[in-house]
Parts: sequence; C-alpha cells; structure tokens
Amino acid sequence: MIEEQRFTTPKKMLADTDEQGSLRPKTLQEYIGQEPIKKNLSVYIQASKKRGEALDHVLLYGPPGLGKTTLSHILSTELGVNFRVTSGPAIERAGDLVAVLTNLGERDVLFIDEIHRLNRAVEEILYPALEDLVVDIIIGKGPSARTMRIPLKPFTLVGATTRAGQLTGPLRDRFGIIERLEMYTPEELSLIVRRSSDILKIKIDIEASLEVAKRSRGTPRIANRILKRLRDFAIVENKDIIDKAIADKALKAMDIDEIGLDSTDKKILTAIIDKYCGGPVGLETLASSIGEESVTIEDAVEPFLLQLGFIARTPRGRVATKKAYEHLGISVPNNLPYQQIGMEEM
Ligand code: ADE
Repeated sequence: MIEEQRFTTPKKMLADTDEQGSLRPKTLQEYIGQEPIKKNLSVYIQASKKRGEALDHVLLYGPPGLGKTTLSHILSTELGVNFRVTSGPAIERAGDLVAVLTNLGERDVLFIDEIHRLNRAVEEILYPALEDLVVDIIIGKGPSARTMRIPLKPFTLVGATTRAGQLTGPLRDRFGIIERLEMYTPEELSLIVRRSSDILKIKIDIEASLEVAKRSRGTPRIANRILKRLRDFAIVENKDIIDKAIADKALKAMDIDEIGLDSTDKKILTAIIDKYCGGPVGLETLASSIGEESVTIEDAVEPFLLQLGFIARTPRGRVATKKAYEHLGISVPNNLPYQQIGMEEM
C-alpha cells in the first residue's frame, strides 16, 4: 500500500491539519509526555531568558508523529519570539536560506524540518551562520566576483529529523541541545485523546480512550486521527459518547488490530517469516518483496515493530522474533536463532 494511503502512517497527512492546529498544545504545561525533554527544555528556556540571549541551537530527533514540530513551536512561544518554519527539501538554493536567515528577528526560532535533507551548498551556508552569526554571499561572476559578509541577529535553529544518523558531523556538532523523542505510553496517549476530545467537543469514556491509546503505535498523530474517525462513527450511530463498543467496532472497520498493527505491518512480518524463514533479510530486499520503499519501512513502519520487539535488526538484516510469530498465530520453529528469541530469554 502507498504509505500516504495507510491510515496508521505516522507521517503527516493533509487531513491531520486540524482546525487551525487547535489540537496542538501551545505551552510546555499543556504538552503531555516526553517528560525528561520538557524538564530539560524548561531549564534551558528559563536560563536563556534570564541571560537575555538566544537559546542554543536545538536538534530534535525521533520517529515521525511524536511532536517535534509542536515542541519547536512551543519553544518559540515560551521564549516569546517569532517562529519561522521551513524544511530541508524546501530550501533548494543557498540564496533561499540566506533570505530566510537575513529576515530573522532578534532571538527568533527558525525551524527546519527534515534537516537531514538539506543539500550540501545550503548546509555550508548554515555553518558560519550558526557559529559566527554571519552569512557569506558571492556577488557577481568570474574575476570580478567578490564575497560579501552579512551579519545576522542572534537566533535559534531548531532542526528536526527522523534520522540523526544521516546528519553530517559538522552540522550535528553545532547543536548545543540534542533531544530524542520517545514513543508515548498508553497512559500518556489516553490523556492526549481525552484532551483532544474536549477540544473537538466529543465525549469519550476512559476505557475507549485507553483502547485508542493502545492501538496508536505510541504516536499522538495517529491517536488524534483515530479519534476523529471514532467521532464519525459515534455521530452516525447517534451516540453522544464514544464508548468501548463504538471504539472496537470502528477500529475493526479501520483494520487496526488490538495492539495497533495494520495490514502493512502484517505483510512485513509475514514476508520475513514465510519468504525468508524468519530472516535475516536485508531492508532493500524486504522492501521490494512487499512493494514498499525502504525509507518508508525504516521511518514509518519499523520503529513501532522494533519498539514492540517483533523484529530485530542484526548486521545481516531484519529478523522476526518469537513474539511476532506468536502474535500472528504462527507456530514458533524450535531452531529460531538467538536474535529472534527476544532479550528476556537470553
Ligand atoms: N496533541 C498531540 N500531541 C500532544 C501532546 N504531546 N500533548 C498534548 N496534546 C497533544
């Protein structure tokens, strides 16, 4: 299935653009989960405000849908500065970035999503900008070309990436604050669902909110997406509250199983088990055997399967673990290599 058509994709879909971003928390206080990160950021924000300086550059990384953009927005709100957004693939030429940088106000936050996708020429503009608050531009061509140095106002770059490993060393080294976002617990997701349901003006009972939470792959974006569809089911059935019965029925109709797996996950697990005898199988081979792109598997599907302990990464490729066999109801072969048995049994 094309990832963008998959209901449980953690990637941002157009339909996630909620009513003026109303589901997004606006302050650290309102933001649920990511407790260690919030604690740290709160200290850094207060300190930079006391010093009257721009916050150090921040790198946020982790799987899609966990709130990197939301958190960046909150940073600018808490700092009381403007928020400018762009993304790695959107900045095609060095000049585009120069224009953005020279238009930033004192201590503003510049958010670059998918920062690992910046091209080389653009990235090289960033180094002196981050280090010395200057950009060097070349004016003219040929022998008469000269460079001009433009000073910048102090600013904070917030970079977000699903792939910290793909950042170049020099870029990574320029971030003073580096935080990894973790998947949310069902309890945190249940709180997020209840907060969102208040905003969307639909009642949901605690049991149903926990059911949504358990099936949202640790991802608020998916939890909120499911909640909106449950609201539809409730409206059509003339119910003024989403209860467990409606939640179960709707989730079944959406082909999301009791732990959040959908047909794409099952296709991947079944391929590893049936076609490759449990693995190891290389990512590229696996991707082409199920007709998906390898980056999609790596960014949007695999993180949750790894988190569940259903697959493991080995130097020779991906393997399905005993837990995956059991969940799919496939009998576990008794010669499963150690990687596939699961850590708890080693
Ligand atoms: N909506 C989406 N993510 C959220 C979060 N982390 N806290 C509160 N509401 C949210």
